[in-house]
Amino acid sequence: MALTTKEVSLKYDITSFFYDFFEFPIEVLLFRKWRKELLKDVNCKVLEIGVGTGKNLPYYDFYKVKLTAVDISRGMLKKAKNRAETKKYPVTFKLLNSEKLPFKDNSFEYIIVTFVLCSVSNQLETLKEIKRVLEPNGKVLFLEHVLSKNKFIAFLEKMHNPIMKFLTGANINRDTVGSIKKSGLKILSEENLALKDVFKKIVVKK
Ligand SMILES: C[S@@+](CC[C@H](N)C(=O)[O-])C[C@H]1O[C@@H](n2cnc3c(N)ncnc32)[C@H](O)[C@@H]1O
Repeated sequence: MALTTKEVSLKYDITSFFYDFFEFPIEVLLFRKWRKELLKDVNCKVLEIGVGTGKNLPYYDFYKVKLTAVDISRGMLKKAKNRAETKKYPVTFKLLNSEKLPFKDNSFEYIIVTFVLCSVSNQLETLKEIKRVLEPNGKVLFLEHVLSKNKFIAFLEKMHNPIMKFLTGANINRDTVGSIKKSGLKILSEENLALKDVFKKIVVKK
């Protein structure tokens, strides 16, 4: 069963103390280059959902980007704010639930979501909100880890999910591509990045 939004935010308040340390090896090995590639052409009004400790921030071109970054966890958001202040990144931070965004329809040209759909309480509610606040010609860029189509990998993911959920708040057993399709968003591209089809880059539009 999925954690409630309150439980997710509490979990990440705790996780915020060790998140960067815990993720450091995979960040250096894989995530950094994926983030850089993902964000290279992003411009105009951008919303980042689940900004976490702000690991994407160094890869935005702030001459072209007006960034609003939201997260449900005070702890994670505090780390992201510190990072932005230290590096003088111009970001508007908001403590918000992605399942109920206070923005008008069609507000953003780009929406960035990296490793977040694994932890939101309700994927479909978040995706519905993403669709609503995305500009008609806008794009949503995802990096996600999802449930593999390979039976053996999927078995391992399901087996390890309770411990991952307990330790970090993230689920590794979600059919995220299925949820994106269900939300009515249209998949423009879906690229497998690592561990066969577990880590993916997905680009979608309305
Ligand atoms: C695994 S972390 C990923 C952080 C960051 N995007 C990254 O790439 O490192 C997931 C983040 O999503 C946030 N989150 C989870 N549910 C959320 C929600 N409903 N609304 C906003 N943020 C949420 C968590 O607080 C956490 O910071």
